[in-house]
Order: sequence, then C-alpha cells, then structure tokens
Amino acid sequence: MANFFVRGGTALNGSVVISGAKNAAVAIIPAALMANTPSTIENVPDIRDVHTLVAIISGLGAKVTRLDKHTIIIDSSELGCPVVPYEAAKRMRASYYLLGALISKFPQVTVSMPGGCSIGARPIDQHIKGLRALGVEISAENGMIKATAKKLTGTEICFDTVSVGATINVMLASVYATGTTVLENAAKEPHVVDVANFLNSLGADILGAGTDIIRIKGVKTLTGRSYSIIPDQIEAGTFMLGAMATRGCIEIKNIIPRHLYAITDKLKNIGAVITEFDDSVCIQAPVNLSSTNIKTMPYPGFPTDLQPQMVALLSLAQGTSVVTEGIWENRFKYVGELIRLGAKLQVNERTVIVEGVPELNAAPVKAPDLRAGAALLVAALAASGTTELESVEHIERGYENIVGKFCGLGANIFVVADPLKSSEQTA
Ligand code: UD1
Repeated sequence: MANFFVRGGTALNGSVVISGAKNAAVAIIPAALMANTPSTIENVPDIRDVHTLVAIISGLGAKVTRLDKHTIIIDSSELGCPVVPYEAAKRMRASYYLLGALISKFPQVTVSMPGGCSIGARPIDQHIKGLRALGVEISAENGMIKATAKKLTGTEICFDTVSVGATINVMLASVYATGTTVLENAAKEPHVVDVANFLNSLGADILGAGTDIIRIKGVKTLTGRSYSIIPDQIEAGTFMLGAMATRGCIEIKNIIPRHLYAITDKLKNIGAVITEFDDSVCIQAPVNLSSTNIKTMPYPGFPTDLQPQMVALLSLAQGTSVVTEGIWENRFKYVGELIRLGAKLQVNERTVIVEGVPELNAAPVKAPDLRAGAALLVAALAASGTTELESVEHIERGYENIVGKFCGLGANIFVVADPLKSSEQTA
C-alpha cells in the first residue's frame, strides 16, 4: 500500500500512450473462456482489475500465459467447477461476466454477488431478467448467485434500463443459445461493440452491437483467435482533463477519437483547442477556462466515469457550472475531498453546483473510489503545494502506470509506501 505525493502547479506537456480499455478487457477475458481453443488477447491493460480477473479464471482451471505485459493467451480446455468465491469476486464488480460466459458451457455456475466501486446500489436485476428469459434458473443464497441451465433458448429481451453490464452478460449467454436472441434497449458503449467484435471473430453471429437492438444467432462452436482490445476512452479523457487543469498541451496517442466526441465537445466548450488525427488527439488548454453544464448519460452521452474528473476541472473555471449525474445515485463521495483542496461545491441530490475558484491548494485527501481518485489526482496536479493522496489502490484498479504516465508529461508525483497500511496488510 502506498500514498501519492503530488507537487502541483506544473503544466503537462508531451505525449502519452493510452492503454487498452479496462471495461472491454474485463468482459473479453471471460468471453475468451467460451472458445474451444486458446485465444491471444493483445492490448490488455496492466491494471489491478485484470490481475484479479486472471487470478479468478486461473483458479477455475483456465491456463493463462503472459506473452508480454499486454498480451495474454487464454486456454479454457482444462476449465472445471465454475464456482467464483466471495474472496475473489468482492474485489471486482465485473466478475459477474463469468455467469453469462460460463452458463453456456456448464450446467451450473456459482458466482459471488459482485463487489467493485461503491457508487450506488448497483442492482443486477436486468442481468437476471435476461438470463432467466434464455432459460437460466437463478437463485441467490448467502451472497452467492447460483445459475443452472439445461438448455439456453434464444428469445426477445427488452431491458427496462440501459445497462452496459446486463447487455454484455446476456449477449455472452446468448452466443450458444438455440435460435435467435434479440436484445432491445441495449447499451451502445464502445466496449459493448468490442466484446461483440471479439465474439464474432471467434465465430459468433452478432449483429447490431453499437445500436440499441442487438441480434444474436446461436452458434455451436467458437474457435480461439488473436484479438486486440480497443483503447480506454476514460483513461484518454482523464489525461485530457489533467492537461486542461494544469493549462498544458499534450498529445494523446493510441485512441479512437470518435469514442471521445462527448468529451472533446465539452472541452472545446470550455476553451480547449483540440486537433484530431486518425489515432491520436492534441489538446491545448486555454489561459482561462469557461464554465459549462453537463449531464452524464449512457454512450454516446457524456460518460459518468469522467464526471468526478470533470468536476475537478470545472472547479477551476470562471463562473458557475452545474453537473448532473444521470447514471449513479451516489457518485459525489469525492466532493468533500475536493472541498478540502479549496473547491467550492454544493451537492443537491444528483447535481453538484461548481463555483469556479482561481486556484486550488494542497491538502491531504483520500480516494473514495476509482474515478473519484483520478479526479483528486487531476485536482492535485493543478493545486499549489504538495497534496498527499491516500487509498490510491482504487486508482490502480483501473489506470495502468498512472504515475509514470503523468510524470512522463512533467508532473511531480512521488509514491511513498504507507507504513501503517503496509503493516495492516501483513498483520
Ligand atoms: C459499467 C462500467 C462502469 C460505468 C457504467 C455506466 C464496466 C465494468 N463498468 O458498469 O465503469 O460507470 O457501466 O457507464 O463496464 N442497473 C439496473 N439494473 C441492472 C443493471 C444496472 O438498474 O441490472 C442500473 C444501475 O444501477 C445504473 C445504470 O443501470 O443506474 C447503469 O448501470 P450499468 O450500465 O449496468 O453499469 P455497469 O455495467 O455496472
């Protein structure tokens, strides 16, 4: 366990290479278990959630070979006894994808109720609704979800709410179902499309991913292939916001610019000059940031996973901004910490009113969750003085080498082991 000491006030400059998308990786790794032969997955982000997932599937009997830092081979030929215990699943929410992926291969799968960031109630009723419609019997006991299925049969499923997780999970379970499954009111996020593209490359028959109706024609086998995960739009957005907060100018490489439209649009609104290339963007911050209003929405709307970082940035804009959280009911836990750095914020249910201040000042702060931790880091990079940021393990769940990447752009961040936490860990 460590803390980050961030000496703020240096404008970010230079270029940064974005890693593979966390939210695609945590679905594609379970999807790879569905194939009869090994798959090679490239551009896998080197982050804690991926390490956790690899440990979970290895525990189930999958053979995972690491070719290099970002390439793994997943061989599920020895997979057996799909029971994912609490100790493993509590560390990452996306362990629920193992339900959808494995119920098509095994008559029974047991997965502990998922953990992950505490940003709201995070129900999984839509996953269960979709799986039941395919013929899966589901029961929950002592914190474990038990799924049993003799046969999966394609059907029409209309989700009551747009859910990335439910769309992907039910899509996974439908691949081997008999007949055709139609998912209506599906999520359209780039990682939904990436999972569908991966499955299609293995031999699945999925049409419409990226629209709100996805059609899956059941197939009998999937054959392992090589596949490269899309770049992480949230990581890219976080670096753009860091450049803006420090009034810097950076190039962001290895991205798909159209995945970032909602973000680039808002940043242009508040004064950024953004130049797009085929697989990179350059962002130049203005001298003064303008305020704006934002509501987070499912893709292609402004992503909830950049809401905390955006509030950190707007804390430094001229005038008042209103930011409304449209996805999660409890995603303002970091507000108190930003206020400690000098931000002027007022939360009213799902809205935060941000009154811009000329500068932020260092203070000890604690990351309450993954993206909130990234927001505090963005704020600390802009603040005057040295901020001590605690609980950075949340950040490391989803950002690869974030300290190295920011320092490569000129930031001053020192990682210091927290002796108290280290001894707590080993006790
Ligand atoms: C995914 C992302 C997360 C992001 C979120 C929204 C992954 C691993 N995580 O989370 O980073 O913040 O999308 O873009 O991809 N809901 C229900 N019932 C359900 C499922 C969801 O009511 O069965 C609600 C949720 O409470 C929430 C909304 O639907 O209000 C969206 O949730 P969902 O898209 O499912 O988020 P996740 O897939 O968990």
